[in-house]
Amino acid sequence: MKEAKYTLGRNLALETCRVTEAAALACSRWMGLGNEKAADQAAVDAMRTALNGLDIQGTVVIGEGERDKAPMLYIGEKVGSGEGPEVDIALDPLEGTTICATGAPNALAVVAIAEKGGFLKAPDVYMKKIAVGPGLPTGVINLEDSPEKNLKNLAKAKKCELEDLLVVILERPRHEELIAKVRETKARIQLIGDGDVAGIIAATRAETGVDIYMGIGGAPEGVLAAAALQCVGGQMQGRLVFDSGVGDQKIEESQKENAMRMGITDLNKIYTMDDMAYGDVMFSATGVTSGWMLKGVRRFSGGASTHTIVMRSRTGTVRFVDTEHNFTRKVDRF
Ligand code: FBP
Repeated sequence: MKEAKYTLGRNLALETCRVTEAAALACSRWMGLGNEKAADQAAVDAMRTALNGLDIQGTVVIGEGERDKAPMLYIGEKVGSGEGPEVDIALDPLEGTTICATGAPNALAVVAIAEKGGFLKAPDVYMKKIAVGPGLPTGVINLEDSPEKNLKNLAKAKKCELEDLLVVILERPRHEELIAKVRETKARIQLIGDGDVAGIIAATRAETGVDIYMGIGGAPEGVLAAAALQCVGGQMQGRLVFDSGVGDQKIEESQKENAMRMGITDLNKIYTMDDMAYGDVMFSATGVTSGWMLKGVRRFSGGASTHTIVMRSRTGTVRFVDTEHNFTRKVDRF
């Protein structure tokens, strides 16, 4: 792990919990209503207001998109009160918009904070990823190895059989070959509809039963997952994938140009966890819908409850925060 340049105040991690709670509460109103846009917008608005209540000089580096496409929480937007430490922020107010809109499991509101320069400025393209949790020998996974080799190495390191392993993969046509190759090894698979940040964090938590994440998801989500792993330990590798989805060369070229504009010099580089998130990192995720690790927002007369995981890389502390929110007190919460 690279050395942190300076230390962020430890209470900032707990403050971050309020930010993801606010986003989760707001979009939970839209759970199952089939309106992805409205759910996302509610989360964005609430997260932005809550972030602006923090005493930080924050810059969004992983956000809702580029300034011309995203009016709020866009890449480069300054957030916070303007006082306090200069930090970079990676966020996804609603990770799993479809999950929220359909009421499926594992939608999250996510924020990570790092010292300036602590996050890879990943473009909004895909990333091929592989990730495992802590306590395994360095190099147990390698993005360039076959699924079979990675799973054999993992089974050996975990002193279990290949068929004991549980692999999380996003259910997408692009993963047909990967799924077939994993099935050949007899390892078990959990296909997920969306939400690979949750899928990767799940590999770090014994209670989920998940051993490894494999496959192609969003690059910004890769940075968020790396931030979480930086806090609890684990290994992750990712490589940007430039793919229009329809084989359009022009779109792929423009994705590459955009990536280079954002500072990516080697388009084929394999990024490690430390390349994507390093130094003093804080991470908070609140469950919107219930899933592997977190309960979703529960709404009741006069209030709601939330469940959040808060982590800090400096100490490796992992906190689960169960909160009851009282909506009958009409106060300015931020
Ligand atoms: P959104 O919250 O932006 O909908 O992302 C959900 C997600 O499943 C991510 O977790 C994942 O990285 C990405 O979409 C995969 O992209 P695609 O749906 O295009 O395969």
